[in-house]
Amino acid sequence: MKSEQLIKDVHAIREAHPENLMVRYFDGEWFSSLGKPEQERLLNIIATGLKNPDSQMGAYAMRPDDYALFAPLFDPMIRDFHSIPPDTKIKQVSDWNFSGIQGDLSAIDQRLADTSMRVRVARNVAAYPLPGAMSRDERLSFEALAVEAFSVLMKDPGFGGQYLSLTPGSPHQMSEREYTSRVQAHQMFKDMSADRYLNAAGISADWPHGRGMYVSEQEDFLVWVGEEDHLRIMAMRRGGDLKALFTRLHGGLEKLEHLLPPFAMSPTYGALNSCPTNLGAGMRASLHLKLPSLTQGDADLKRLKLLAQPLGLVVRGAAGEHSGAGEGGLVDISPNARLGVSEKEILNRLYQGTKTLWAAEIR
Ligand code: ARG
Repeated sequence: MKSEQLIKDVHAIREAHPENLMVRYFDGEWFSSLGKPEQERLLNIIATGLKNPDSQMGAYAMRPDDYALFAPLFDPMIRDFHSIPPDTKIKQVSDWNFSGIQGDLSAIDQRLADTSMRVRVARNVAAYPLPGAMSRDERLSFEALAVEAFSVLMKDPGFGGQYLSLTPGSPHQMSEREYTSRVQAHQMFKDMSADRYLNAAGISADWPHGRGMYVSEQEDFLVWVGEEDHLRIMAMRRGGDLKALFTRLHGGLEKLEHLLPPFAMSPTYGALNSCPTNLGAGMRASLHLKLPSLTQGDADLKRLKLLAQPLGLVVRGAAGEHSGAGEGGLVDISPNARLGVSEKEILNRLYQGTKTLWAAEIR
């Protein structure tokens, strides 16, 4: 693509879709100043936002070092999304020591025994390109590396379990039926080839090769292989014991850190992941909570969202981003901060915020 045409396209999208952060911060003069190989790399990074003008981000990193190399584009996008002012230094510090948190993390309220809780982190192995730039061979060799790590994990009585692959002909291949039921149980990711944002970035290429999931014996610790990031590592459980949930995740994450080559990490951006929204702790922690009185007569959840915002929480409907409350006022609640906040702070916000919402619910 010629620079002039690209710059024209960017300007047209900027008019129609000011929310697309890639076009908001794309600087044509800077692009023209880059060498040919850098321009080629950048075109792959921004392809998703050019083909999908309605993108919120509009760019996916293809290699961990893209964030540093293409900082003139990425840094302002990242600051905008994560609400970090231009003159503030970004620093990601990890902290899994939850002892300083006020209150009893193991029990929010006995009435929440049915609440489904999950927390995940995204990680990528530094030695491989990110999923958007992987060849089929690299996807398969990465899956083989992950399977080796899982086979050690499975021998640990605290984990056990199995690896289920989507790779055709894999000795671990799961049936179509098993895949469908794991997706319905929210244990496995959906068919990525149906996602136009991922398609344009090459992240869903070679589907379903190199994709799969590890699940522990108790089905409370899971790892996705080959979705938007090399690994999505997660813990799930029911009830209100947030401490047990986070401790389970941390224990499994530490095991995998020892069993795999080093993850791509930066002192500034933390975990270097495909999507700039997932930088930092790379963590999303959520509760599926029933709030019948707070959601009553609030179909689009406007009131509840306003209530949750100052607590640092985002509210989604039971069926995801743009849905309303589900049966019994079921909503998904999660802290929105990812970058520049530690794991401990994320847990703290989820715990304190949920306590506040719950107190309002039962008042
Ligand atoms: N690439 C899409 C966009 O820019 C999604 C971004 C956030 N979601 C995600 N799964 N990373 O709008």
